Amino acid sequence: MEKFLEKYRKNPSVKEKGDTQKASRAQLDEKLVEKRDESGSQQTAIPWIEKYRPKRIEDIVQQEEVVSVLRKCLHGRDFPNLLFYGPPGTGKTSTILALAKQMFGDLFHDRVLELNASDERGIQVIREKVKKFAHQIVGGKRKDGTQCPPFKLIILDEADSMTHQAQAALRRTMEKEAASTRFCIICNYISRIIEPIASRCSKFRFKSLDSELVVEKLRSICQAENVLLEDDLVLEEIVKMSEGDMRKAVTMLHTAFRWVGVGNELTTADVSEIAAVIPMTKIEKVIEACKDQSYEKLEETITSIIKEGYSAIRFFNQLHDWILEDTTLLNDNKKAVLCEAIAEADYQLINGANEYLQMLYISSVLLQQLS
Ligand SMILES: Nc1ncnc2c1ncn2[C@@H]1O[C@H](COP(=O)(O)OP(=O)(O)OP(=O)(O)O)[C@@H](O)[C@H]1O
Ligand SMILES: [Mg+2]
Repeated sequence: MEKFLEKYRKNPSVKEKGDTQKASRAQLDEKLVEKRDESGSQQTAIPWIEKYRPKRIEDIVQQEEVVSVLRKCLHGRDFPNLLFYGPPGTGKTSTILALAKQMFGDLFHDRVLELNASDERGIQVIREKVKKFAHQIVGGKRKDGTQCPPFKLIILDEADSMTHQAQAALRRTMEKEAASTRFCIICNYISRIIEPIASRCSKFRFKSLDSELVVEKLRSICQAENVLLEDDLVLEEIVKMSEGDMRKAVTMLHTAFRWVGVGNELTTADVSEIAAVIPMTKIEKVIEACKDQSYEKLEETITSIIKEGYSAIRFFNQLHDWILEDTTLLNDNKKAVLCEAIAEADYQLINGANEYLQMLYISSVLLQQLS
């Protein structure tokens, strides 16, 4: 493994053979974030998701309503508290960062306090850090004398991971400091934000991104980075795998580019490899075993899928697609039973359940439904 990584660093076009290929992917990705420049000194390459993060709110794609409202707020003093919610990778963090940079310019670091899930955001921090920052008085001019909004901005990113107690502690602060501070609360699930906070904010829903827009963005990155593509299907495959999440799509493109190396063409097969798509023949083997009512064959196939390093989530996604598309073996009732079981297993996985057992569980439900 180490030898392969060493070889890969020297010649990124080298591909590893055999089963260890999949197991190495995550480690490879981590190691490759660090890149040596030609002089041999160590420097950190900027991940493409940061390099191509929109710099101005006009560069945010798809979220038209959000952008048009925010554009009006940009220069006025009438700036509400904001609550952004929606699926991952749809531009929530990028939007507020771009907006803050446009509003405050070189005062960004003095005027903006950004706290995300990796920071301690218990009740103590809300009481001390946020309150202290909110208390400071600010003026309406930048260092160069130009106008800027006379308030500060506190960004609470990934707020769904804040305790309800900490959210409750925010209520008073938000009201008391309304004259000098605005809040931008960002989350994936609005139901995890307590009602008194939600009702103090203007809410903006971020929608999952359309495939064409993601393809367009990926194409512009490919041009800027000289990524060679076998054909147009490559980008479509990436977008299909990323399910409306632009972050996932850009990260996948970057990983795939490192995988094939500079000057080599990126193919659809490379993308499937990077995304760890389980070959359809394996999924079909599971279905065959269920049709034959052979638990032994089923267990054997699941074991081989696990051994090759494929994830249970990927297995569930692909099996789910097959279930929805099937028109011959399963009626609607059976499909409903299976989808419910998959949802349950997905929840168990988030709580740390064993992948192998969950895959066996879902396959056993399929075996019963096909009896
Ligand atoms: N609407 C968009 N327009 C342009 N680029 C986008 C958009 N959404 C996401 N991106 C790209 O995806 C990356 C991740 O976006 P961002 O961090 O804003 O997502 P997010 O909505 O905050 O996701 P999360 O909920 O996981 O925090 C950015 O670097 C950006 O390049
Ligand atoms: Mg974010």
